[in-house]
Amino acid sequence: MAFERVCGLSEVPEDGALRVELADIDVAVVRFEGDVYAIQDVCSHAEVPLSEGDVEEFGGAPTIECWLHGSCFDLRTGEPTNLPATEPVDVYPVRVDGEDVYVDTHADGTRPLASADDRAAN
Ligand code: FES
Repeated sequence: MAFERVCGLSEVPEDGALRVELADIDVAVVRFEGDVYAIQDVCSHAEVPLSEGDVEEFGGAPTIECWLHGSCFDLRTGEPTNLPATEPVDVYPVRVDGEDVYVDTHADGTRPLASADDRAAN
C-alpha cells in the first residue's frame, strides 16, 4: 500500500468530483453523502472523463454518471450499473486524514470506502 496525498478535502465539491493525476493515472476523487471515493477518471466505454459527470444515487448505489452516453459507475466497485458501458473502471482505496485526501493507486483489488467521518479517527 502506498497512499499519496492527492488534494484537500475542501477542494472536492460535495456530491461532486475533482480530477487529479497520480502516477500518470487520472483519478476522480468523489464525495457523495459524506463518503469519499476514488475512481479511474476514464469511462470504460469511450475515453471521456467521468469527473465531469453527475454524482448521484442509482439503483441504491452511489454512482458517477458518464456525461456522454449516460452509463453510471458504482463508486464502490467501479462496475457500470447500466448500458452502454459493460466493463468496470478501476477504483482505489481512499484515506482521509483531517483536510488531506490520500489515494493508493497501487492497491490490488481492494475497494475504497472512506467516510469523511473517519477524519476524527485518523
Ligand atoms: S463514453 Fe461513457 S457511456 Fe459512452
